[in-house]
Amino acid sequence: MITNFYMPTRVVAGPGALGTIGTLARDLKMSRVLVVSDPVISRQPFHADALAALAEAGVAVSRFDECGIDARCSHIDDQGARVRREGIDGVVCVGGGSVMCTGKGIAIVATNNKPMRECTGVGRFDRKALPMIMVPTTAGSGSEVSQWTIVKDEERHLKLLGGGPLSFPDAAILDPVTLRSLPMRVAALPAVDALTHGVEAYLSGIASPLTDAVALAAVRLQFGSLRASINSDDERARADNLVASCMANIACGNARLGHGHALSLPLEGHLDLPHPYGVGVLLPHVTAFNLAVLPEKVKPLAEALEVETAGLTRAEIIEACAESIRALYADIGFPDRFTPDQLPRQRVREMAERAVPGLYAGIAAEGFDTASVTDDTVIACPSARKMTVRQAERMFESCLA
Ligand SMILES: [Fe+2]
Repeated sequence: MITNFYMPTRVVAGPGALGTIGTLARDLKMSRVLVVSDPVISRQPFHADALAALAEAGVAVSRFDECGIDARCSHIDDQGARVRREGIDGVVCVGGGSVMCTGKGIAIVATNNKPMRECTGVGRFDRKALPMIMVPTTAGSGSEVSQWTIVKDEERHLKLLGGGPLSFPDAAILDPVTLRSLPMRVAALPAVDALTHGVEAYLSGIASPLTDAVALAAVRLQFGSLRASINSDDERARADNLVASCMANIACGNARLGHGHALSLPLEGHLDLPHPYGVGVLLPHVTAFNLAVLPEKVKPLAEALEVETAGLTRAEIIEACAESIRALYADIGFPDRFTPDQLPRQRVREMAERAVPGLYAGIAAEGFDTASVTDDTVIACPSARKMTVRQAERMFESCLA
């Protein structure tokens, strides 16, 4: 198998890193930027500091502070047109995953001059996105080093992934100051998503020694710092979390994501389930499912998940991996089941069928007709083990409260 590892984003990490944003913008030849954020983050002191550093470097600033819980196609298309109109030559995102996905979408449509939904799928646009600087304010999505943007098409109730090598951010600034104001519950959600990225990259059928090294190190760092970063004011743990979530995304950007993300997608699109709940609840299940066909990977992953493996059979270690993830969830206040509101039992089969096109289909998923799906239809997914619709249905059922 030929493998590929590509990560062109410059990563500037550590306390004080945000102070370099003006210099970074100048290095990237930005003269007028759109700073993308949300109504909460845009009122934080570090947001004002970032704007001041840009101004000090002589970079003119326009603002869009209206991002919501998802990156919306309508926001992206409107702001992309504004960027072209106002001669803006760079995008700076200060926020969590939805802010970064919104900004990345804006940077894509600004140079490609077509609606976001037509840019979804893999490599569906021809021109390089505008230069981007990402400042994540949650340790989680990893969008700051990812070529992908996940957007919501509000009219069609679809979550769509788009991107390619032309939409990598140019720089990511990981400064733990941005995590200081996060309430515990808010911090836990993206952190679980990041853990999912590392584990799913490791369990991918297209993983390579390069992605495995980064994925395992990410899981180990994330698992070892998550409790302290969420349950205390440990700044070192938070800094570790930021770096770990960035590493996890470098791994999954190259090895791709698995069943957790493929199965979560219809729940997010059709049932409005927030992404971290979908992938997080599924994670212990998809970990055990895929480890069953990856015997050589059981012990390394178990060690990264802080499982004591001595005296256990392989099957017991796999079960202990799932249990270790659940124990972490209990400690940080994250659920390990879907409530009947989040996933009604009567919609389980429908969701399993809607998962068939997978995470990477883009708008091609729109034309997908579930009438042709049988129990044996395989979910499109790069995970090591093939999963049928019937198996997905059973997995959803085992996630119900
Ligand atoms: Fe994710």
